[in-house]
Amino acid sequence: MAEVVAAPPVAPATRSWRWLAAPFLAFALVSLTAGLLARHQPRSKGYFRLFFSDPAHLKAGFATAAVALGCFQLFSAAWIFRKLPWRKPAWINPAHRWSGRLAFVCTLPVAYHCIFKLGFRSADTRVLVHSLLGCGVYGAYASKVTIVRLHRFPKPVLPVAGGLLFAVLVGVWYSSAVWLYGHDSNPAAAAYSSSGYAPAIPAGASPTRGAKVFAQSGCSTCHTLKAAGAGGQIGPNLDVLRPTFAKVQAQVAKGGGGMPAYGDKLSAAEIRDLAAFVASRAGG
Ligand code: HEC
Repeated sequence: MAEVVAAPPVAPATRSWRWLAAPFLAFALVSLTAGLLARHQPRSKGYFRLFFSDPAHLKAGFATAAVALGCFQLFSAAWIFRKLPWRKPAWINPAHRWSGRLAFVCTLPVAYHCIFKLGFRSADTRVLVHSLLGCGVYGAYASKVTIVRLHRFPKPVLPVAGGLLFAVLVGVWYSSAVWLYGHDSNPAAAAYSSSGYAPAIPAGASPTRGAKVFAQSGCSTCHTLKAAGAGGQIGPNLDVLRPTFAKVQAQVAKGGGGMPAYGDKLSAAEIRDLAAFVASRAGG
């Protein structure tokens, strides 16, 4: 017993499987922290988009870069462990390390928006899966780093951890960026909202009629929306929030959080048109 605990620096023996508790703990703690930090309603301020069209495309772009680097990670790891037919060059270890660091950096603008702005969402299965996997990414990363730093785990541990990290990353990317790009190329869903949870606006809805409803209902007292010439400051800025059709529809019908309900003042068709107007024009 004493040897196992005290000897590691001298005797480079393989660790016992019990040491797996360390990476598991790292995974659980980090994933849970990400989930807890993300426990809030979507925030209205602090989004950025750099050279992308909106924050959703920024997220998708960086996530795609991270996955591309992840593919290189997998490839260079296979080379390092001599699973490829070619001789192992000297630059492959640093290339592996640096592509890993770069991939991590690429995830940061994504995580910033997901964790601190949009928060953990469960509007539908895709979003829930995306939220859960999103929390898991840094957990998987932490456990892989733990394994690398502690050294001498049984042989299959590192490749399995690396593979799991890659799988989680691909899952997050698939449930967001791939979905978004598919959505972009679908003209029926052109009115995509930056929060990423937008189902298409129903075909019968008229944003033009919705603009009138917006003007007549006093929304501009509380909300900013450039397309309507509204500059209210009490509620969230709709150009920044870019709420989905479903969200506007629900919020207008039910109110809440300081906003009056319009369910009994407006007809279902008026609310539908209003939601189509806000969802398609906000942020534009
Ligand atoms: C008296 C002020 C007031 C008026 C009038 C008002 N809102 Fe709001 N609205 C708010 C506040 C405050 C919130 C934030 C609610 C929250 O954080 O839960 C909000 C939230 C929203 C949201 C975001 C919901 C979400 O889940 O993030 C939308 C969309 C919205 N309002 C649309 C409208 C529309 C459309 C109208 C006109 C029919 C309108 N509001 C009228 C105050 C108002």
